[in-house]
Amino acid sequence: MTSAASICVIPGDGIGPEVTRSACRVLATLEDALGGPEFRFDEQPAGYDAYMASGESLSSQTIEAAHRADGVLLGAMDVARIPKEAVQPLQALRKRLNLCASLRRARSVRQGAEGEDVDVLVVREITEGFYSGIEYKVDAHSACAVRVITRGATARAARLAFEAARQRRGKLTAVHKLGALRVTESVFLAAVAEVAEEFPDIAWETKNVDACALELIKVPQHFDVVFASNAFGDILSDVAAAVGGGIGIMPSACLGEVSAYFEPVHGSAPDIAGKGVANPLAAITSAAWLLRHLSMTTLADAVDAAVDEVVREASTLTPDLGGLASSTEVTDAVISAISRASISS
Ligand code: IPM
Ligand code: MG
Repeated sequence: MTSAASICVIPGDGIGPEVTRSACRVLATLEDALGGPEFRFDEQPAGYDAYMASGESLSSQTIEAAHRADGVLLGAMDVARIPKEAVQPLQALRKRLNLCASLRRARSVRQGAEGEDVDVLVVREITEGFYSGIEYKVDAHSACAVRVITRGATARAARLAFEAARQRRGKLTAVHKLGALRVTESVFLAAVAEVAEEFPDIAWETKNVDACALELIKVPQHFDVVFASNAFGDILSDVAAAVGGGIGIMPSACLGEVSAYFEPVHGSAPDIAGKGVANPLAAITSAAWLLRHLSMTTLADAVDAAVDEVVREASTLTPDLGGLASSTEVTDAVISAISRASISS
């Protein structure tokens, strides 16, 4: 095992600093408990607070630190409060790290309970679509957003989605709204079909986005990998979270061929920031995903198993999961579960 790993931590706003602190505590435990590397954390600013403090929502210093590190862990950013003239830091980070797809996994941990046996991975393109950043005022009372769909960006993200399907249950659903967006969706579906030829082992289908939202709620077991354009995937990942384990435990990865960053799907939740009740499990499972990405599979498995144990056991959970515990108590419970498992193995 490598002796040291550098992690660029971008805590961001609201509950972001609290949950990333928890995730870093868990990573730090792995060194002693499981002979993991020494994690060296490099904390960097970005988001609304950074914008208020320095005028920059994402500085070149933060981007350079992200490039330098072995892995990047992000908390949450309050992007809605950043004025529209300023840089949108999440989208800018994705562009500057040359990332192309976001992967969000919804998985019911308490099988047999509500949302039983759900395991859906929503993969979306993240550089264009409705979030291409091309928006303008036409006159005082009207404005346009341009939905850019290119074969290149769609195919690049689709390839990661098909690769993920190959590691999972071998099924992919490509989501579109061809009846309403006839030109852009033709390009989208043609790009997916082209990539699908490289993956003859994957069973794939297409589905209208509205039907997909409904079926995700009614028959989530139908789905393995859902592949979508930017905005559709953003929305469907929240739908999947609701039917899976809940947004409080949903991790995500933003991937390119070279760089990557990992973040909880939940936002900055300013209403509960500083109260010590934010659920740290999504940040912790995002850190586990980072470990997996760095090929530290044993460590990633240990963290995921500890989180599953805490959720299943259900005596130490934050209020969003029906418990009364604080973020610190939940983090402590995960750390104890890791230590117990390391002693008994
Ligand atoms: C999210 C958000 C962001 C995203 C927006 C604000 C860019 O919706 O993290 O889910 O698209 O990922
Ligand atoms: Mg979202």
